[in-house]
Amino acid sequence: MECAERLPATAEGIARAAGLIRGGGLVAFPTETVYGLGADAGDARAVAALYAAKGRPSFNPLIAHVPSIEAAERLGRFGPAARALAERFWPGPLTLVVPRRTPDGVCDLATAGLDTVALRVPAHRLALALLEGVGRPVVAPSANRSGHVSPTTASHVLDDLGGRIAAVLDGDATPIGVESSIVLVEGDAAALLRPGGLARAELEIVLGRRLGEVNDREAERPQSPGLLASHYAPSARVRLSATEIRAGEAALLFGGFAPAGLERAVATVNLSPAGDTQEAAAALFGALRRLDALGVAGIAVAPIPDDGLGEAINDRLRRAAAPRP
Ligand code: TXA
Ligand code: MG
Repeated sequence: MECAERLPATAEGIARAAGLIRGGGLVAFPTETVYGLGADAGDARAVAALYAAKGRPSFNPLIAHVPSIEAAERLGRFGPAARALAERFWPGPLTLVVPRRTPDGVCDLATAGLDTVALRVPAHRLALALLEGVGRPVVAPSANRSGHVSPTTASHVLDDLGGRIAAVLDGDATPIGVESSIVLVEGDAAALLRPGGLARAELEIVLGRRLGEVNDREAERPQSPGLLASHYAPSARVRLSATEIRAGEAALLFGGFAPAGLERAVATVNLSPAGDTQEAAAALFGALRRLDALGVAGIAVAPIPDDGLGEAINDRLRRAAAPRP
């Protein structure tokens, strides 16, 4: 179903999108990672409508998007580690979870009542122009129904949410293709809550030390998609590290590796024939949607290395393969 307006990537389209959000509406927009579904972070009714449109449990907090470090520092407290990461990687595919300042223009529903807030300055022309136009923090989860594959094009958004949102600002396919890396920072301690569009090694170079593990915090906090085992789930059954193709399966390949029985595959997609994890990340969610649309019973995924964006790719694929609730 498709009732949402498809807004062009023009000054008028951006102004219309900003006006809809300021009026309490839900508008999807492109970022460099995936499309987000935006709502005014301070408008509890709009945020409640956002949770409802996605079918997302309201105990799973949202990322507040702002156009600058200065705007972010009005919402959260930045110690030296958080500031170093923000200065190096913003605008960019990094979300920082820091202690929250209140009152901050972000409603408690958006932070699920936590005393921390997740903040991001996206590196996308349309996203930044929209955030400037709204002039307030904008919460934006990925613009898909909860548990589905994240959208990397405006058409993906409309397929999933067309009947449930006011509009989508139509930019091109998102260049990175997986969500931001989420880092929890408290004083000098930093932990990776979700691997994403920034490779772990890049973060660790700036921090000057290894990132802590997410398990350190599990007892205390609701997790990033972290604990929702099944996520990014296509309808097809997903099988990881496949070295052979079984009857009825499609093949999702990486690099030059050819699983046994490849000629049996009902469809074949190679995320990056050259074996580049960045290229593969950009292609991942579109490939899962394409194979799903073909109605294949299963998707056999060839092994993908963990380096670069491979860690984020393998994280999403593990969730896609997890037993469904
Ligand atoms: O790339 C991205 O990050 C995209 C684009 C649109 O910016 N957004 C995105 O949002 O992926 P979402 O809602 O799909 O994922 C945000 C994650 C959630 O899993 C949530 O649990 C976590 O961030 N999160 C938010 N606030 C948190 C907090 N205070 N502590 C720990 N995790 C938090
Ligand atoms: Mg999501």
